[in-house]
Amino acid sequence: MLTQQELKQNVAQAAVDYILPMLRPDVVIGVGTGSTADLFIDALAAHKASFRGAVSSSERSSARLAALGVQVFDLNDVESMPVYVDGADEIDAGLHMVKGGGGALTREKIVASVAEQFVCIVDESKLVGQLGGFPLPIEVIPMAVGAVARELARLGGKPVLRDGFVTDNGCRILDVSGLAIADPAQFEARVNNIPGVVTCGLFAIAGADVALMSTQDGVRQLRPASS
Ligand code: 5RP
Repeated sequence: MLTQQELKQNVAQAAVDYILPMLRPDVVIGVGTGSTADLFIDALAAHKASFRGAVSSSERSSARLAALGVQVFDLNDVESMPVYVDGADEIDAGLHMVKGGGGALTREKIVASVAEQFVCIVDESKLVGQLGGFPLPIEVIPMAVGAVARELARLGGKPVLRDGFVTDNGCRILDVSGLAIADPAQFEARVNNIPGVVTCGLFAIAGADVALMSTQDGVRQLRPASS
């Protein structure tokens, strides 16, 4: 029986194998944040001579990449990336995701939006029938925390301010439980419209293009159920 850590290691290595054909000396790739992304960074570093560098979605991942000798680029200096690789807190069969457990959701959404392909790396515990079991992280401008929390309560959620946590962008996170998200893209658009919301942790309007899912029987490749 593989432990969760071994499942994460397997999918991190599978992600490196998946992107290897995309690597060229002039290629910059997008790299996410979290414990699975950390393992991906560690496995990626063995191939650092094969590509130019990376744009990362957090100060934490940038520091890890740099420590392993991978050059880190500012997104403003990069026009295109073939791929963005990141974990998720939940993923459904349509490859819509809840992200932001590590608080990096805004930069994750930005870097992913520039990449041609989002490769989500998860272990099988992250696959759900309906999103919303994991409290939905929402990044909020500090002065709007109370107003946004009241609006989320009106939408049926129970928002809790992530205690003592400030994002890389100087903002706060509300973790919203009690949501059964029947239509993820519609709910994402609804939350995006609340004044003071920087980013909703739903990645549904633009989900993953492929998910690599680590199971006891190996790493499975999932494509969106509708495609
Ligand atoms: C960070 C994220 C992560 O991808 C998500 O929290 C999953 O993390 P882990 O790989 O540690 O389970 O969205 O903001």
